[in-house]
Amino acid sequence: MKPVILGAKTLLLTTAIGIAACGEEPQTAEERAAIIAAAETRVPSDPVLAEKYERACQACHADPENGAPLSGDVRAWTPRIETRGTEGLLQSTLNGFEGMPPLGACPDCGMDDFENLIAFMARNENGEDK
Ligand code: HEC
Repeated sequence: MKPVILGAKTLLLTTAIGIAACGEEPQTAEERAAIIAAAETRVPSDPVLAEKYERACQACHADPENGAPLSGDVRAWTPRIETRGTEGLLQSTLNGFEGMPPLGACPDCGMDDFENLIAFMARNENGEDK
């Protein structure tokens, strides 16, 4: 099993190596810092969804040391979507996945909420999901 808690430096290093190995443009430290800063502040525009997000998902998905794909970090979400599809990501959330508790710690979230929360986190500020 993968360690869930990674130091910021380890995460940065593994991310850089992983991306270099795929032949993609390496992510600079500045780009990484911008993604972390955006993750820490962004919330869904719908206030009801935002309340659930802030109560449940944000603590882990805006924490670069948690091991969770960061909110708005398209690079982190794309391979998950490509491997499991949006339905698979929904199932991971319902059942729990590695370091994530079942229902993403949101017992009062409905299916629409989960789909919207996942879509929100997998998109960046420009609304891009790739
Ligand atoms: C206690 C921390 C925690 C909370 C709360 C949490 N997550 Fe996660 N989540 C994680 C971690 C850690 C991962 C990455 C697990 C891995 O791949 O090792 C993850 C991964 C995911 C994934 C990707 C699953 C996959 O199959 O790759 C989705 C989707 C997700 N979370 C949605 C949510 C949603 C929606 C919420 C709020 C309702 C939420 N999470 C709340 C920690 C959390």
